[in-house]
Formats: sequence, structure tokens, C-alpha cells
Amino acid sequence: MQERILRSGPLRGRIRLPGDKSISHRYAILGALAHGETRIRHYSSGADCASTLGCLSALGVRVERRESEIHIQGSGVEGFRAPQAMLNAGNSGSTIRMLSGVLAGLPFETRIAGDESLARRPMDRIMNPLAGMGASIDARDGRYPPLTIHAARLHGIDYTLPVASAQVKTCVLLAGLNAEGETVVRENVPTRDHTEVALREFGAAIRVGAGAISVRGGSHLTARDLDVPGDLSSAAFFLAAALMAPGSNLVIERVGLNPTRSSLLDFLLSMGADVKVLNQERRAGELVGDIQVCYSPIRGGTIQKAHTAALIDEIPVLAVLGAVSEEGLVVRDAAELRLKETDRIATVGENLRRMGVNAELAPDGFRVPGRQRFHGAEVDSFGDHRIAMAFAVAGLAADGETVIQGAEAAAVSYPEFFATLRQAAC
Ligand code: S3P
Repeated sequence: MQERILRSGPLRGRIRLPGDKSISHRYAILGALAHGETRIRHYSSGADCASTLGCLSALGVRVERRESEIHIQGSGVEGFRAPQAMLNAGNSGSTIRMLSGVLAGLPFETRIAGDESLARRPMDRIMNPLAGMGASIDARDGRYPPLTIHAARLHGIDYTLPVASAQVKTCVLLAGLNAEGETVVRENVPTRDHTEVALREFGAAIRVGAGAISVRGGSHLTARDLDVPGDLSSAAFFLAAALMAPGSNLVIERVGLNPTRSSLLDFLLSMGADVKVLNQERRAGELVGDIQVCYSPIRGGTIQKAHTAALIDEIPVLAVLGAVSEEGLVVRDAAELRLKETDRIATVGENLRRMGVNAELAPDGFRVPGRQRFHGAEVDSFGDHRIAMAFAVAGLAADGETVIQGAEAAAVSYPEFFATLRQAAC
């Protein structure tokens, strides 16, 4: 499917976004592991979070979906049943990596795989700590899906993350819930902490200290009634689009503002963006608020070290914003971008080139000089949702028409993206 994008006027009005993808996955998995009925409102409409629900259903968990409200009947890990077939994680790295932490401690064998993109993503980052906990997992070429996860009894581990990854941290903590003794995960670079926040909400025995998180095996989780905040990573596309279109004044309602995610707002502010947070409150341990963004010239900047991990999903659209900024954007320490749904250094570079924008690519990042203009062109999502949406934003600022091939990829996290973009961009 292709989408055609024309240069837009200002973005105005008020919009709401789908529920946060990271939080939706975690609430669904913890709801399945808890005892009783968990109700989740504003669950992500993205295909990735549907993949998590599909896997849980295939594991015998009762899941009912009424539009964006999900009801999950959890009966603890003992309620899981051997699936009839291979579990399908679709395009979702979060589903396969986080759920594998649960599957590793089950008393029966499971198999899990996904689409072609997922088949190229490394799983040794979860296989290594899980093996250290007593799990037995086979993978294609020792590191790629499909994974065959044999029945095992797990024991706790004290594990320091070698890569900054919230998916790996979550996988080990979920495995720890069903392991004997204590599991400790240490991180040198902080990553999103939605798992820690949600575990506390569900009543798990969890301790969070400086750079270390520990859980006790056998903790009893209790069902909860929860609202998922809007997805800040989806908000990033609208923030960038509004900052690029003179006259914009847009309010994005009820967005998750967890401090381990909101470096995006700090980075935009540091570049001179007119962005304000209104009506902030805490719900189930997560900060939520409205974001008002008005057009403003952007200075440009550098993303490196710990900031790279904190902004990893937003980098494609920040590259687009960087091209029209005064000084451009430099991204370093971002080799992880090459291991996402696509090699995002390559796919961002290729689409920028097609739109007549220069960028210098490096093994671990890129430099996009500022004060450039986008020219309408045919770009490709390469099957990656964030690439489809980032280049729709570029299209709004381009001369002429931009055609996005493979635009349907946006549905992985945000099926309503193009409709909401058309509503906001007058
Ligand atoms: C996620 C963690 C990040 C992020 C992904 C969602 C999560 O991945 O890119 O979109 O929900 O924990 P990594 O853990 O691989 O960095």
C-alpha cells in the first residue's frame, strides 16, 4: 500500500494517540501472570501488541478484546497451557524477547517465531542470561528465531546487561518471577522502566536501587484495572511535524511522560522547541500529561552516550527534523539502530538521499547537516513502521508530492497514523 503526502499547512487542534506500545505489552503479560481479571483500557491498537495478546491466547490465557479495552483472566503461570502450534510474534521484538522470559520457565516445550524482519533480529541477548538461569533454548544459527524453548526449572541470576535494552531487562525480570531465589538485573545505562513500575503495581516483590533491580521468585501478582497512556514515541512524529510547519499549535492529549522516555521533550527543548506539558498527573505509577507544541525554529544538536539509548525509537524522525534545523543533527553510539525492525541507519540514509537531503552515515550513527530542503520523492518504509511515519513527516515539509511505499507498516504501532496526520495537518 502506498500513501501520498503533500506539503502541509500548520498542524492544529487536539489529538489522541494509541496506548503506549511498551506499557501495553507489559500490562498484558503481567495480567496473564496475575490472579484474577485484569482490565486494560486504551490498549495499543498496533499489530505488535495484538501479537502479544495472540501468543497469550495460544498459551491458554483467556483474553477478550472490546475495541481498545482488554480483559485478561489470569491464573498465574500455572494457568499457561502447551500451545498447539508455533507462537507468532509477528514483527514484534518486544513480544518474542519479553515473552521468552516467561516461556523459559514453563513445564512444557514452546516454539516462537515471527515475520521475516524478526527472523533477522538477534536473540542471543536473551538466550545468554536465560541459559544462566537454567533455561534450554535452541535458535536458528544459535541466535535467530524461531526459538525452541524446552521445559526447564529456573534459578535466580545476578546479571549485568551488556547492551542497554529494556527488552532484555524485562525478559530476565519476567523469568525471575518464576525462578527459585532472587534475580538481580544491573544496568550501566538506564533504560525505560515500565516493567519495574508495572511489577510494583501488580504487587510483585521488587526492589529498585541505583542501577540494580531485583525480584523474588514465586511472587504472587494480583489483577489490576489500568489505563494505558498515549505513546510518546508516536507523539514524536506529530511533535516534529508541528515544529516544522509555521503556524502550528497542536495539543496531544494524555501522553505517557515517564522520565525514562521523556528525554525526547528535554532534547527538543534544548534545541529551542516551543513544547509545554500541561495537566500532568500520575496514574498507576506512570506520569501522564498533555503536550502542547507550537512551531519554532530548531537549532539542531547531538545525541550520544546514554541519550542515544533514551531516544532510540525517536531517532528516525529526529533525523528528519535535524535536516531542516539550523545546525543539523549528529547521532553517535547508536549501533543498536542497525538491529531494529530494519537497519535504521541505512533506511534513514536511503530515504533522506531519495528526498535530496545529504547525510553522512557511520557504523554507529550519522550526521545530517542542517538548513536542507526536502524534495518530494518515492520513499520506502522497507517494512518498518517508524520509517514509514518519519518520512510521512518529511513529506509534509517537502516541495511536491512524496509517495510512501509500504505505508501499511505504520500499523505495527499506529494503524490510525495517516488518518490522524490528515486531521491535524490542515
Ligand atoms: C522496548 C525497548 C526498546 C525499543 C522498543 C521497545 C521496550 O528496544 O526500541 O521499541 O518496550 O522495552 P531494546 O530493548 O532492544 O532497546
